[in-house]
Amino acid sequence: MRRAVCPGSFDPVTNGHVDVITRAAALYDELVVAVLVNPGKAGLFGVDERMALIHEAVVDLPNVTIDSFEGLLVDYCRAHDVPVVVKGLRAVGDFEYELQMAQMNRELAGVETLFVPTAPQVGHLSSSLVKQIAKFGGDVSSLVPKAVNDRLVAARPTSAGGTS
Ligand code: PNS
Repeated sequence: MRRAVCPGSFDPVTNGHVDVITRAAALYDELVVAVLVNPGKAGLFGVDERMALIHEAVVDLPNVTIDSFEGLLVDYCRAHDVPVVVKGLRAVGDFEYELQMAQMNRELAGVETLFVPTAPQVGHLSSSLVKQIAKFGGDVSSLVPKAVNDRLVAARPTSAGGTS
């Protein structure tokens, strides 16, 4: 049984994440999408909601499960017997830090990392840009799964209320 984990903050999941998850799911028997619980960083969406939004986006992929983890990724991998981490690489800017983490995770626990180059159509996406665009009323419907877009629109401050 070939298993891998696709970790991230997913605040919120974007079409770029879905691209990487979909392609990783085709390479492994089981793929766990693991959402980092970061007590020091609240984020826009709570971890349960992030997981629910991912679930909705990948509901058609039967070998994908959603989980969360706190602490070191390698500890999660050890505890769940997952030997491979899958990460999407957008551009060269991602590479330096991702390489460092991949080398460290291998040194710490022998966990390998598979880098999946994102599809060019989604290579410019990031959760933080999506949140920023949505916050100021921009249209992100082509950048995120429908459920995420609906939540971002609902969370948008109303101009009538004059809130920031
Ligand atoms: O979506 P992100 O924020 O780019 O995901 C980064 C993530 C969660 C994969 C990374 O920060 C991580 O693995 N955090 C867990 C803590 C950890 O293991 N740190 C040591 C990395 S060598």
